[in-house]
Amino acid sequence: MAARLLEGKFFAAEIKKSVYIEVENFKKNQGITPGLAVIIVGENAASKVYVANKHKACEELGIYSEVIRMAETISKQELLEQIASLNKNTAIHGILLQLPLPEALRNDEAELLKAIHPDKDVDGFHPVNVGKLATGQEHLVPCTPAGCIKILELANIEIAGKHAVIIGRSNIVGKPMANLLLARHATVTICHSRTVDLPSITSQADILIVAIGKAHFVTKDMVKPGAVVIDVGINRLADKKLVGDVNFEEVKEVAGAITPVPGGVGLLTIAMLLSNTVKAAVLQHNTKNS
Ligand code: GUN
Repeated sequence: MAARLLEGKFFAAEIKKSVYIEVENFKKNQGITPGLAVIIVGENAASKVYVANKHKACEELGIYSEVIRMAETISKQELLEQIASLNKNTAIHGILLQLPLPEALRNDEAELLKAIHPDKDVDGFHPVNVGKLATGQEHLVPCTPAGCIKILELANIEIAGKHAVIIGRSNIVGKPMANLLLARHATVTICHSRTVDLPSITSQADILIVAIGKAHFVTKDMVKPGAVVIDVGINRLADKKLVGDVNFEEVKEVAGAITPVPGGVGLLTIAMLLSNTVKAAVLQHNTKNS
C-alpha cells in the first residue's frame, strides 16, 4: 500500500495564510510593518537562490525585506558592525545570517550568530534561544524543525507517546528537532554517524526524521511498516536531479506517510521564517510597551 503523501505546499499555504492575517492585523492595529534583514556573504549559488526565495516570500505577505549582500573578503569586525546596526534598527525585527559562511569566516560562525539580538534571532540559533528550547520555553525556534512539527500537527499525526527517531545531530535540525518532539511528549532517539546498527533503531520508529545530507540513505528495510517518514535532506545528484535522504520510491511502499523531495519540508522552512519574523515583531512591540 502506498503511503500518504505529505506535500509541503498545502501546509506552507496554510501557515502563510495565517501569517498574512497576523501581518495585516499588526499593521492595522499598531501601524508597524514586520521587517526581516537577511545577510548573505559571498557568492554561494545555492544560498543566493534561498535568499531570493526568502525575499520574494516576504514581499508576498507584506513583510518588509532587506537583503544585505557582503563581499566574501569582508572581515569579522565589519560583519559584527553590520549586525550591531541591524540590532538597533527599529524597522528590522528579524535578522538572519545566511549559512554557510565563506571558508575564511567559518571559525567565527558561533560568535557572529551570538551577536544577533536573541529577540531578533529568527533562525533560533542564539544560545539563549537554544537554551530556552532545551528547557521547554519555546521562543524563536529553528525554522526547519519547526516546519517538521507543523507538518505533523497539520496532518493530525499524533506525537505524544510515539517513538520518534532522528537521524542527524546538527544544531540546525537534529538537536532542536529532538527538543521539539520531547516537549510534545514523544520518546526520542537521536542517531548519528557513530550509531551502531542503525537499521535496528530506525525500524522501531513510529516517526522517522532524516537530516544527514546523504542521497537515498534510508532504504525500505530501515522503516517500520506504517511509520511517518519526514525527509529533511536536499541532495543534488550528478544528473542535477534533487533528491532527499530517503529512497522515496521504495520507502513509500512501506511507510504510512512520507514527505517528498523536492516539494516537502523545504517549503515549510520559509513559511516558518515568515512566522518567526512576525512573532519577533510582536514580541519587540510588547517588550517596548511593557
Ligand atoms: N542555510 C541553509 N538553511 C539555513 C537556515 O535555516 N538558516 C540560515 N541562517 N542559513 C541557512
